[in-house]
This record gives sequence, structure tokens and C-alpha cells, in this order.
Amino acid sequence: WPATAEKVDGVLRVGGLPVPDVVANVNTPAYLLDEEDFRTRARAFRDGFADYDVYYAGKAFISTAVARWVVEEGLLLDVCSDGELTVALRAGVDPTRIGYHGNNKSAMELRRAVHEGVGRIIVDSFVEIERVADVAGELGVLQPVMVRVTAGVEAHTHEFIATAHEDQKFGFSISSGSAFEAVSRVLAAGSLDLRGLHSHIGSQIFDTSGWEVSARRVLALHARIGDELGHVMPELDLGGGFGIAYTTQDDPADPADLAAQITRIVKGECAALGIDVPRLSIEPGRAIVGSSMITVYTVGTVKQVQLDGGASRTYVSVDGGMSDNIRTALYDADYSCTLASRTSAATPVLARVVGKHCESGDIVVKDEFLPGDIQPGDLVAVPGTGAYGRSMASNYNHALRPPVVAVRDGSYRVIVRRETVDDLLATDVG
Ligand code: LLP
Repeated sequence: WPATAEKVDGVLRVGGLPVPDVVANVNTPAYLLDEEDFRTRARAFRDGFADYDVYYAGKAFISTAVARWVVEEGLLLDVCSDGELTVALRAGVDPTRIGYHGNNKSAMELRRAVHEGVGRIIVDSFVEIERVADVAGELGVLQPVMVRVTAGVEAHTHEFIATAHEDQKFGFSISSGSAFEAVSRVLAAGSLDLRGLHSHIGSQIFDTSGWEVSARRVLALHARIGDELGHVMPELDLGGGFGIAYTTQDDPADPADLAAQITRIVKGECAALGIDVPRLSIEPGRAIVGSSMITVYTVGTVKQVQLDGGASRTYVSVDGGMSDNIRTALYDADYSCTLASRTSAATPVLARVVGKHCESGDIVVKDEFLPGDIQPGDLVAVPGTGAYGRSMASNYNHALRPPVVAVRDGSYRVIVRRETVDDLLATDVG
């Protein structure tokens, strides 16, 4: 939950505002983003990782307003598409403070990135190294790049969001030698400035042992490049992936503690290798925006379903679903929710909150105890939807993607408006 969330007489408040009052104006479903909470988490990473460059991973959620907050709080920004870059530039983010990711950036995307002066491009394939080198050569610039490497680590997270094992699409494998080869090619290109190696082991990770193994392998390569190729890289990026609590109140590790652990690992390894500690950077997305946002839905129908063995489950259908939060269906993710609009003395019942889409996997919250008198018109709030909620939202069944409403100090501001049918029809050219 965002730090300002509280219930007063059964009514949920966020940013000093009763949620029912906000949605009376903006309608449901809606994402409410606690601006102060976002800024506080961003600052906690910036201050906790004080000696690092902290890139906010815009893929988790980006909009013009959020990109501005990121700048105001002193963070840098990671983008991974021309769309995200466009939002960042529109928000006035200094291009030199942008890192550009992606395993298949097009020639057009790369040309624009180089032309705009993006601070670093994280190269992910041999063909991309050639493309960036050519574009930078043509434009007559020395483009800073990092080489994305695969450390061969089994990160303890869902298979779809783990990225450091060998059999997946990202990065150059260290163990097969292709990472070394990629570095050699970057060094041979006169238009590229090799800043360092980049490794991202996956997302929603709690166990620092993954970073430890990856840092060890990546630093060994870093040292070898210094020895054998005579190029001491000034930087090293360890990626993002810091996990958050979805269904419990357990706060994830404090950024300062995480920083202390990671720094200790890196310093120890550098000492053992006899090399200088490079300038470190990280790219948290989820850990900054994830808990700052909630989704508010209106209940439309309530249905009892008999389960084997005589028990029953209450299906609570809300006015959104997998189009505004695909994570439950895609990753089997767990969420919780609460009745947000009133008190109830009714005995809690085991409920499943489902959406309005045409498939049975359209589940928002798999299991939650909700008051037995839950009924149409009630508001239900789901916390922890800030990361990869709106950013992975779709128009399935021609759903209109919900607005993002920033709340702070008793007032609210729509920062992304609700889509309209006209928005959808604009692309349907007959
Ligand atoms: N850096 C790189 C290179 C990444 O690929 C990612 C996430 C991040 C940083 C930020 O990771 P975070 O700190 O947010 O965990 N859609 C999935 C997550 C995909 C993550 C993709 N890359 C989900 O909803 O869980």
C-alpha cells in the first residue's frame, strides 16, 4: 500500500483524499498514484545508493509527469523503446541521463537515440553493435555504450521474468565467450565508447545471492578485459529487479541495506581481483512505482459457485480485469484487495475478484476474504499495481485503458486520461 493509504470508517483514503470521492469524478477502473509515496521511494533509492547512478526503469510505468518526478528526485532514466524515449524527451529529461535498452532496437530507433545524444546505449547483439557503430560514425559522434552480458545465474523468480540464465534472448553469454567477443568488437569500432558491462538477472527478486554470483562473474570478465584488451571500463551496471511485497505488509529490504550488501560484494570481488571499483549503477522500476499505485474497481456482479467438497467461492466481478492487470493471468501473480467504500460487519467469505473479459483466466485477485455482503456498486481497491499494470494494459475486448490519477496532499490530478472509444476508433481506418 502507498504510505498515505488509510481507512477511516471503512472508507479508504490515499494522498489525503477519500477514494470514493476521487472515483466519483474520474470513474472506475482507475489507477491512483500516490505522488509523495513515489517520490519518497525514488529518494530512498537515490540516497540509499548514494555512490551509484540510479536509473528508474521506465518500463514499469512511465508518463510525462512521472518522468519529471524522476528528474526532480535526481534519478536517471532507463527506456527500452522509441515510445518511452519520446515520453522522456517530451518531459524534458536530459538525454545524457537516459540509458537505452532492448534486444532488438531498430535502425530507426538507434539513429534517433544517437542523434538525440542518449547517454548510453546498452548493446545486446552483434548486429546491433554494427548498427550503432555505423549510425554514430555517420553522425560523427562517439556513442557511449554498455555491453549487456548474461551471467548464467538461476534467479529465483518466475521463468518469464528471469533474464540471466543461458537459454533466453537477452545479452551476450559470458561462459560461451560471446561477451568477450562483443567487447572486442565494440573496442574495435572507432565510433563507440565502451563504458562498461551490464547485467540484469531478473525481476521481483529478494535473494541477494543472485546478484552476488552475477557480480562475481561479470567482474571477472571486467578484469579480464582490462588485462587482455588493455581497456579499463569505468562503469558497471547491475540492473534492476528488487522485489516488493504484494500480499503481505512485509517491507522489502531497505534500499540503503541493499546498497550496503551489493557494495560489499562488489568491493570484495574487486579487491580479490586487484582492480579498481568501477562506478556502479542500478535500474529499479518495480521497487519505486509498484507500491505507489492502487487500482480501484466497481463491483458489478456477485455470484456463488459451489466447489468440490461442499465449500463455495464468491466470484466478485469488477469493471476491469486482465486488460488493466495481466500479471495474475500471465505470471500467476498474487494480489490482495479490500472493500474501499464502506464498513461492513458481515462475516468474511472467500472471494475471487475477476474481470469482465471473455475468458475464465481473467482473474485479478485469486483469493481474498471479503465481507459476505459485498455487492454491486461497492468499490474494491487492489494495492501494488504500479509496476507493469498500466504499462502492460491492453485493449482486449476493446476495453478502454484506465486513467492514472496522481493524488497528493488532499488533491488529485489526472496524469494519463482514460481512453475513449474515439481513441480506439482512430486507428480503425476501415
Ligand atoms: N533493467 C532491465 C534491463 C530490465 O530488463 C528491467 C525489467 C529492469 C531494469 C527493471 O526491473 P524491476 O526493477 O522493475 O524489476 N512485466 C514483468 C516484469 C518484466 C521486467 C522486465 N525488465 C512483471 O510484471 O513482473
